Amino acid sequence: MPGLCLRRALCLFVLLTVFLESSFAALLAIDYGSDWIKASLIKPGLPFDVLLNKDSKRKIQASVAFKRDDRLFGTDAANLASRFPSDSFTSLKLLQGAPFSSEAVSYFAQISTSDIVESGRSTTALKQSDGTEWSTEELIAMQLSYVKQLAESHGEHVHDVVLTVPPHYTQFERDAIVDAVEIAGMKTLMLINDGTAVAVNYAMTRTFSSTPEYHIIYDAGASSTRATLVSFAAVEDPKTKAPYTQISVLGVGFDRSTSGTDLGRRMRDILVERFFSQHKQDIRRDKRGMAKLWQEASRVKTILSANTEATSTVESVAFDLDFKTKVTREQFERACSDLRSRFAKPIHDAMASAGLNLDQISSVILTGGNSRTPMVQAAIKSAVGEHRIAQNVNADEAAVLGAGLYGASLSRQFKTKDIRIADIATYDIQASYFASTPDSRTIHSSIFPKDSKYGSHKTLSFKRKEDFSVWFDYKTEVAPGFPREILQVQISGVAEALGNLTERGAIDPVVKLTVALSDSGFVSAKEAVAYGEVRDESLAGMLKGLFGGGSGEQEVLKEQDTEDMVQEGEGETRQTTPATKEKKTNKEKKDMSTIPLEVNVVFSTLPPMTVAEKRAARDRLRAIDSKEVLKRLREEAHNTLEAYLYKLRDILEDGPDSPFMKCSKASERQAISKKLADTIAWLHEEGEAADTTALREKRGTLELLERPIVHRYKEIEDFPQVLNNSQKWNWSTRLFLAEARANLTAEAAADVPSKWTSEELDGLEAKLKEHEAWLHGGVERHKRTPMNEDPAIQTKEMKERAKALEQHLQRLVKKKAPKVKRPASGSSQRSGSSDSEPKEPDSGRGTGHDEL
Ligand SMILES: *[C@@H]1O[C@H](CO)[C@@H](O)[C@H](O)[C@H]1NC(C)=O
Ligand SMILES: *[C@@H]1O[C@H](CO)[C@@H](O)[C@H](O)[C@H]1NC(C)=O
Ligand SMILES: *[C@@H]1O[C@H](CO)[C@@H](O)[C@H](O)[C@H]1NC(C)=O
Ligand SMILES: *[C@@H]1O[C@H](CO)[C@@H](O)[C@H](O)[C@H]1NC(C)=O
Repeated sequence: MPGLCLRRALCLFVLLTVFLESSFAALLAIDYGSDWIKASLIKPGLPFDVLLNKDSKRKIQASVAFKRDDRLFGTDAANLASRFPSDSFTSLKLLQGAPFSSEAVSYFAQISTSDIVESGRSTTALKQSDGTEWSTEELIAMQLSYVKQLAESHGEHVHDVVLTVPPHYTQFERDAIVDAVEIAGMKTLMLINDGTAVAVNYAMTRTFSSTPEYHIIYDAGASSTRATLVSFAAVEDPKTKAPYTQISVLGVGFDRSTSGTDLGRRMRDILVERFFSQHKQDIRRDKRGMAKLWQEASRVKTILSANTEATSTVESVAFDLDFKTKVTREQFERACSDLRSRFAKPIHDAMASAGLNLDQISSVILTGGNSRTPMVQAAIKSAVGEHRIAQNVNADEAAVLGAGLYGASLSRQFKTKDIRIADIATYDIQASYFASTPDSRTIHSSIFPKDSKYGSHKTLSFKRKEDFSVWFDYKTEVAPGFPREILQVQISGVAEALGNLTERGAIDPVVKLTVALSDSGFVSAKEAVAYGEVRDESLAGMLKGLFGGGSGEQEVLKEQDTEDMVQEGEGETRQTTPATKEKKTNKEKKDMSTIPLEVNVVFSTLPPMTVAEKRAARDRLRAIDSKEVLKRLREEAHNTLEAYLYKLRDILEDGPDSPFMKCSKASERQAISKKLADTIAWLHEEGEAADTTALREKRGTLELLERPIVHRYKEIEDFPQVLNNSQKWNWSTRLFLAEARANLTAEAAADVPSKWTSEELDGLEAKLKEHEAWLHGGVERHKRTPMNEDPAIQTKEMKERAKALEQHLQRLVKKKAPKVKRPASGSSQRSGSSDSEPKEPDSGRGTGHDEL
């Protein structure tokens, strides 16, 4: 498998180059698709790879479902649709950021059995069978939160995410995914267009020359088809002279309605027709039946990718009827014949947009599950030529891995290959405003035309005297039923600020508005100021003026409708982290000439969620999360009680030789028996309704009765070992005492200092005797105690006493040997008291000291 090899190579590569800085917060990359979610956790010490789900699969089905009090995810959730069609939610990506009245929503209604309702924000919400409504963002957030938990099972808290989005995602759709991420308790570090992410992954293991190489990333995805034309080149950093890989997106082509989902829809419609012709019943009236056919369509579609025909069999699909039919690849392709050319068109569009022709394209890299469909393959091959289709690219996971790699490079905590990307806008974005002339015409002026670079900003200058509004909109419709207006900027305080500037001596002051197109593809208003050059009368100011410090670089647009406005200062604000800190440039000069204006941004069409809405959504999710945790604890308590009861029942039924029988009295067994019977009855009658505390209490009561018996048994088991230990210490102590006393006597006779006094040794001996006496008494009583009585001496006390004796002994052994005084005469007193060895007593002397 070439894909696997590549993946291995990549793992190795990243492992070698990755290093840990002081505290690294793990980063999560997510490719949230219509059918599948793929994720990758980037964390030092973890191999760079996709995140496995709980069944060790490399991708997670993008579904969430509700089954009474349970919430299911992944395949479990999708499979629930055939039984609870209104409680299983899949393909939600199709609804992301879509207005309720848009074509995207009516299309979703064709392929899904979910009940769609309008949300309070004129987008979509979905309704469970019990009437509970969830906004699309909330349902997607649940899935993202599920992925977060999977990632966190690797032991690291996850907060930052990089997500892939289709390049044609509008601001509304981008807002929707960012909102979902926030509801899921995470923060979006960046959105990266998926074709660009694949390009990053592609570049990671390859080297390029300074001559650009052109490739097309083609993705026949579940929700849409898109082609991204990129160039790869080796470039030298002008400052550091270090080489880096530059990836530039030069053109994008896409088709929102040609998708894997639509192939599935057509297959399902074949099955619907077959069912009708066989049974003369309209299965579309039966939600469960439709949900089953939707799953079956996906299965048959997959079989037909490798076979020329497939048999479909669904038992009891609807109306108690079984269904069986055969579909050939040819029949399927006929039903999709109009799609064939549409699958190839985005490639041509991307080339046209980039102004390149096929001969200049080195390869076409296919990604997306449906790129393997024979019909799509054939369409691409005939469009670009088979030799141009890249092999050895792990198509399925390239986007999420590329996003992860790029995210890691942004965080600056990993050392990765230096790859820089330049992405571009997919739609024309213009600024619109009412002319100040009496006729109040609407004036449109392009601010970020299609193919504008991400990460750039522009300053618009308006010759206005009063407060006014500018709105940013898409020049043409972005998708059927989507609004064109993105946001409105209300600028106020104009008259006063201009008046002040004029007072300061500025001539013809203007209003300047800075707009930005972020690295994640969002357009926003950065700031608005009143500006008029105030002449600086100081010497420094005059010098500045001499050397061309003026601001006359404004480029007046040639468009006829711009008499009110000029654009200037187009520039790139390449920021590697989107957490932007406003740059304060030319501060001193600006102070006099610039007065900040109040900017109020209003979303009048499809607003992103407000902070309050997001908080409310997050609270709802937290509430079900904690409800689920409590439920799981209750279930655990129920199950442990049940298991405990059966264990106890078995123990009571054991033969007379079992430890339990030997260590228990008949009265105790009777008491347990009775309580056990009561509890089993209680569990049957009230167990399902009982709460966690009640369940735990029941177990506690029984354990209390069982505990003395268990304790006896445990004591009997432990006794020999503990006794052995006690004896070892009285034995060691006795040995030590004998030897030490002999030494003391000898030393006294020889008149050399001793390590111990005889009082010290007497003290230890007293301790030893006391220990021996206690132990002896205890052992005698122990022998006479029946097994089903509480033990005469506790092993706990035996251990403590042995420990006390041991410590006493150790204190003496560790005592420093006295310094041998050298007599002034220098004559050695006694050769035996070798001053060459003034050390501690040899502790290895078979006295057991080596155990100290
Ligand atoms: C204009 O000048 C007045 C008087 O100096 C001042 O109080 C006011 O804040 C200024 N307004 C602005 C917008 O700078
Ligand atoms: C006591 O300990 C010794 C040595 O540690 C061992 O040989 C002996 O078998 C032990 N006896 C019992 C009853 O555990
Ligand atoms: C230690 O104490 C036990 C219990 O009194 C006794 O049986 C044993 O002989 C003693 N061991 C020695 C070495 O004195
Ligand atoms: C007794 O004296 C000998 C010889 O000096 C020495 O090796 C040994 O450690 C001493 N024993 C004790 C318990 O002090």
